[in-house]
Amino acid sequence: MEFEKVIACIGAGYVGGPTMAVIAYKCPQYKVIVVDINKERIDRWNSDNLPVYEPGLDEIVKQVREKNLFFSTDVESAIKEAQIIFVSVNTPTKEYGVGAGMAADLKYWEKSARDILKYANSDKIVVEKSTVPVKTAEAIERILSTSDKYKFEVISNPEFLAEGTAINDLLYPDRVLIGSRETPSGIKAREEIVKIYENWVPREKIITSNIWSSELAKLAANAFLAQRISSINALTPLCEITGADIEEIAYAVGTDSRIGNKFLKPSVGFGGSCFKKDILNLTYICKYYGLDEVADYWLKIVEINEYQKNRFVLRILEEMFNTLSGKKIALFGFAFKANTNDTRESAAITIAKKLVEERAILSITDPKALENAKKDLEGVEGEIYYTEDPYEAVKDADAIAVITEWDLFKNLDYEKIYSLMRKPAFIFDGRNILDHKKLFEIGFNVYPLGKPPLKHF
Ligand code: UDX
Ligand code: ADP
Repeated sequence: MEFEKVIACIGAGYVGGPTMAVIAYKCPQYKVIVVDINKERIDRWNSDNLPVYEPGLDEIVKQVREKNLFFSTDVESAIKEAQIIFVSVNTPTKEYGVGAGMAADLKYWEKSARDILKYANSDKIVVEKSTVPVKTAEAIERILSTSDKYKFEVISNPEFLAEGTAINDLLYPDRVLIGSRETPSGIKAREEIVKIYENWVPREKIITSNIWSSELAKLAANAFLAQRISSINALTPLCEITGADIEEIAYAVGTDSRIGNKFLKPSVGFGGSCFKKDILNLTYICKYYGLDEVADYWLKIVEINEYQKNRFVLRILEEMFNTLSGKKIALFGFAFKANTNDTRESAAITIAKKLVEERAILSITDPKALENAKKDLEGVEGEIYYTEDPYEAVKDADAIAVITEWDLFKNLDYEKIYSLMRKPAFIFDGRNILDHKKLFEIGFNVYPLGKPPLKHF
């Protein structure tokens, strides 16, 4: 079959993979090639054991793979064949030199731009899909404009999908944002990208803007979302002290239609590859432009998040008679949120490490994320066990700490769990997903977030 267009995507990660699968699924008239330098990842994309777990993803990939969706390590051929190249490589926090610990490391992005420059055999549209600092397009344009043969137009099209709901978010997005230079050629390229999304997204949900707004809007959206979580989390210790109930507060606050009720769930701290990285990046940009007060304002969101993780561990320590040495703690969940195998920046990592420092014995249970958990805790010295079976995890445990809000944990037989544990048995519910009153009646000492504890002594 002759394809109308060839779209390439450099980077087959949590964003690139699912996004391109949905484009291929919704646009059978396009050929979509996803490339990555990581051969193991590509092999998995070509197998039945995809490297990314997302509800609905397997079914979509199965339908379009080898029809109009292809995964490959051949970056050169993909660049040559495509008219439109999405770049979805990772932009982690820089770990060295100027801006270490704050700025985004654009080395993977720059390598991709240089690959495009090297292998291009015609004019191309290059689309920023990964979240990048505002003004990145300028640097990319500078590299690409050194070509004396071909013309490249850089477009910003940030991805707003959240993990665990990626397929639904891609199929029914709140909006699609496409930014470009406001020159005739910029606007023409932007329209090409609009055309792709028009295959399934209503036109009024496709927002076009100038390229800097588009780059910055993505950082701003993530900062706003994270800010809501830090705001609600910052109220949890006050609730625990005063007898107020954080769920009642979230409800009372969230019913104000100006505020809205989403993203007000208290937690052990937000994780994920985006929030912390993007806020640090935003902070760095502000500092770079001399906006110290603005930088401090955004940075507080991350500081409160760190505080919340530490506080969770301190509470476990204090309530369990100030020693965890030799005590077994079952961690319920390791993924940074439910319905994903992703553990990047998961609060579980910090919490597990701190508990091990206190010489606790850990048994970690998670339905999807154990493979990643093992990698995250590689080299950590201490007794750590992994099991997919929560009943196995709680055997002879002194405490359960709920880290991830998997539905599975809500529906367990807690009478049985209580009988398997050492007494006194503790539950620290870092997600407020369990029935606290019932657990207390069974015999547990229960510590919800942002509510007074239910203790038997
Ligand atoms: C986020 C943004 O939502 C998405 O738009 C962007 O493209 C990437 O970053 P993601 O990190 O996948 O997505 O997940 P999200 O659902 O936003 O959750 C992030 C973290 O916040 C998780 O650890 C989650 O458990 C936590 N969270 C979320 C809370 O603690 N409370 C809430 O009310 C909501
Ligand atoms: P995200 O969550 O933003 O998708 P990931 O880390 O999951 O981030 O994915 C980014 C992918 O980009 C990784 O699989 C990585 O191997 C790939 N990558 C990084 N640099 C290059 C490059 N120059 N060429 C091709 N792929 C790359």
